[in-house]
Amino acid sequence: MDLGLKGRIALVGGASAGLGRATADRLASEGCKLALWSRGGEALEKAAEEIRAHYSVVVATIAGDATDPATAAKVAWQAERALGPIDIAILNAGGPIASEATKTDPDEWRRSFQLLAITPIELATALLPGMRSRGWGRIVSIMSSGIRQPIPELAYSNACRSALAAWLKTIAPEVIADGVTVNGVVPGRLDTARVAALDKARAEKTGSTLADVRAQSERSIPAGRYGQPDELAAYVTWLCSDLARYQTGTFVPIDGGMIRGI
Ligand SMILES: NC(=O)c1ccc[n+]([C@@H]2O[C@H](COP(=O)([O-])OP(=O)(O)OC[C@H]3O[C@@H](n4cnc5c(N)ncnc54)[C@H](OP(=O)(O)O)[C@@H]3O)[C@@H](O)[C@H]2O)c1
Repeated sequence: MDLGLKGRIALVGGASAGLGRATADRLASEGCKLALWSRGGEALEKAAEEIRAHYSVVVATIAGDATDPATAAKVAWQAERALGPIDIAILNAGGPIASEATKTDPDEWRRSFQLLAITPIELATALLPGMRSRGWGRIVSIMSSGIRQPIPELAYSNACRSALAAWLKTIAPEVIADGVTVNGVVPGRLDTARVAALDKARAEKTGSTLADVRAQSERSIPAGRYGQPDELAAYVTWLCSDLARYQTGTFVPIDGGMIRGI
């Protein structure tokens, strides 16, 4: 199936690892040119080198911390300077700290809101005018099941990502007539360093072994296992394709049946 992505220019956040890296690989396999963004360093450069070597596509890297208010404008500018007008923006970075919902901290709220809401909103806002004027664009946000079903101890994530979802849902109808779609994916538990770190923290807190925590977590998923990053990346790539041009304003779970609500 031709997804119509060859030659498209994609900016992928959190691209050095996990879900962002898997998405970068999938988009590269469809012939996209890539601007990979994360805080930078060895892992990001290694990802770029591997993708260039494997898919023979142009890959640029951009270092920037999504908790820094100056980052969104810098990333948008550097990505377009390196590769030209951005067609596809994958809004993604790391997750916030875990915390009991009744024990949150104002500074951590500010940091998490910048990471999970303000930076992606500013990034999309910077890229949307160009996408609209060219009559084609894709914004896909990697979110969390917490926007559908709050996750205990991930209060910052549940709340800040819900704000982002509300903004994305607000802009989707405003830009679809210009050929720009705006969607999100809602991961349940996919096998990445982030999920491993959360499991480790839970094991330490409860005095269980890491293996027991993971086994219990997997039993709560009807599919009986954690998902693989590519199982999300494949769907994100579909959302970026020309074939998905009529799909906008949606937030689709990729969760092995974990979210029980309709
Ligand atoms: N995996 C899941 O099942 C799952 C479930 C629900 C939600 N999520 C959310 O989905 C997103 C991606 O998760 P993941 O599992 O792929 O995580 P991951 O494996 O930890 O990867 C996170 C990526 O984001 C980058 N990053 C981290 N902090 C950043 C920052 N402040 N600014 C810019 N980039 C940053 C990291 O690279 P550098 O270290 O190079 O910066 C890395 O490339 C996270 O927000 C996570 O909370 C994941």
